[in-house]
Amino acid sequence: MKFLTSGKVKDVYEVDSDTLLFKFSNRVSAYDVKFNDEIPKKGEVLSKFAEFWFETLDVPNHFVETKSDTEIIVKKMKMLPIECVVRGYFYGSMVSRWKNGEISLPEGASTELATKLSEPIFDPTTKSTHDVPVNRQQSISQNLVTSEEFDWLSQKSIEIYNKMADISEKAGFILADLKLEFGKLDGKITLGDSIGPDEYRLWPIDSYDVGKIQDAYDKQLLRDWLTANGYQKKFENSRSLGEEPVAPSIPTEIIGQMTDRYITAYEHITGKTI
Ligand SMILES: Nc1ncnc2c1ncn2[C@@H]1O[C@H](COP(=O)(O)OP(=O)(O)OP(=O)(O)O)[C@@H](O)[C@H]1O
Ligand SMILES: [Mg+2]
Repeated sequence: MKFLTSGKVKDVYEVDSDTLLFKFSNRVSAYDVKFNDEIPKKGEVLSKFAEFWFETLDVPNHFVETKSDTEIIVKKMKMLPIECVVRGYFYGSMVSRWKNGEISLPEGASTELATKLSEPIFDPTTKSTHDVPVNRQQSISQNLVTSEEFDWLSQKSIEIYNKMADISEKAGFILADLKLEFGKLDGKITLGDSIGPDEYRLWPIDSYDVGKIQDAYDKQLLRDWLTANGYQKKFENSRSLGEEPVAPSIPTEIIGQMTDRYITAYEHITGKTI
């Protein structure tokens, strides 16, 4: 099996001319810093979440089969050069873009942080290292997709978001936003890549509070610990000096709690056990 590429969490191998293998690791990063410690079971949760969503969503997708606890086999595709982001809440990069006048909101829309949008919106980006937001007209004029493809992706992505948000809500979570990738398989647009905690933000409904920062359920513990111990500042300082930040080792207690959270989210949402 030929090794193809390694992302933040998954390694991609070529099985044969038609299929790829995704191997999900236990790697973790926060504030764009990669840690040396691993989060046990994280890869298994990501792999099984991908399987669950591909089997649950009523959309043609590239999933073939599960190979092991941390590996899935998918059909090789030509990927569309656009990341299909759907946002259900006023949060993340959307806030700074609104402040900079780069996007407008519907008349009368609340601009309090983490407000639910009146409707989920399709808010795609390019697929470069620094994802740049693109609207319909830009996506077409930059030849990323055709107008028909853009409209299909927009409608499908929102449909998928709505279904996933429903399932998450029944399990006590808000699906704040979601990133999907599609490719072409035998000429047909097909859902690809992976769908799991690295592709969406989950907020526990119980602690949801408009106007506040809502940390992603799984990463919150690590970010809180880093901030409380001054690491977030240290990372920023290093970067401003042009140096690569040094990752501290994560306390075993935090690691254990993160594993618990990944598993809890998976078990509550899917109704399955790890
Ligand atoms: N079925 C498929 N066929 C071919 N390529 C695919 C398929 N599904 C996903 N891909 C592509 O494989 C690559 C997987 O890379 P991966 O997501 O692991 O890392 P990355 O995108 O480089 O970095 P990051 O960790 O930030 O996501 C992506 O470019 C994705 O678009
Ligand atoms: Mg990726």
